[in-house]
Amino acid sequence: MSEVLDVIKERSSIRKYRQDTLTEEIVDKLLHAGLQAPTARNTQELHFSVVRGGHPVLAELDKEKKQVIAASLEDQTEKDNILNQPDNFYFDAPVVIFVDADKDFGWSQVDAGIAVENIALAAQSLGLGSLIIGSVKRAFEGEKKAYFETTLQFPENHEFAIAIGVGYKDTEKEPHTYDPGKAVSFIK
Ligand SMILES: Cc1cc2nc3c(=O)[nH]c(=O)nc-3n(C[C@H](O)[C@H](O)[C@H](O)COP(=O)(O)O)c2cc1C
Repeated sequence: MSEVLDVIKERSSIRKYRQDTLTEEIVDKLLHAGLQAPTARNTQELHFSVVRGGHPVLAELDKEKKQVIAASLEDQTEKDNILNQPDNFYFDAPVVIFVDADKDFGWSQVDAGIAVENIALAAQSLGLGSLIIGSVKRAFEGEKKAYFETTLQFPENHEFAIAIGVGYKDTEKEPHTYDPGKAVSFIK
């Protein structure tokens, strides 16, 4: 089996990391994997914001995400559960990369998904773990949207698409199982 197929097969979502710093060289490799991803019409409209663990904006995003979700709930116990959740959205990954994209380009979300998977596979091939993160999108739905977009230096007319946390694994997780019989049709 080729190395690429092995990496695809072995990748899984990691939600516990060692706190070792990722060198700039490693971060650079991850970013290049994102930048080398194909984009529709080769638009290359994606932008990547790299945030190191411990940056205050991560805690602010986490708090806002929880508040936005809690505000949408009616049940007080459910609200309290969300607000008191012990984990943060990025599970203390030492690096979080936010991918943002042109609001008005119809393929932006697809392009961002491809780029983030390239980063996830690059991380796996470098012996790192990763977690693709969509849940933080809720933080961009509240009053602090503009503040977060400015702090993360999104270019004009860009919006959050997806994020990915990366770091050295402090846990192992088996890749997910799947059912090709259910998910695939061969058209004859
Ligand atoms: C678009 C997308 C968004 C995701 N968002 C989150 C998230 O916000 N939080 C989280 O813990 N996992 C998130 N995940 C990870 C999925 O839960 C995970 O990929 C899935 O359970 C399959 O597990 P595996 O990645 O280990 O194969 C996301 C995955 C994708 C593709």
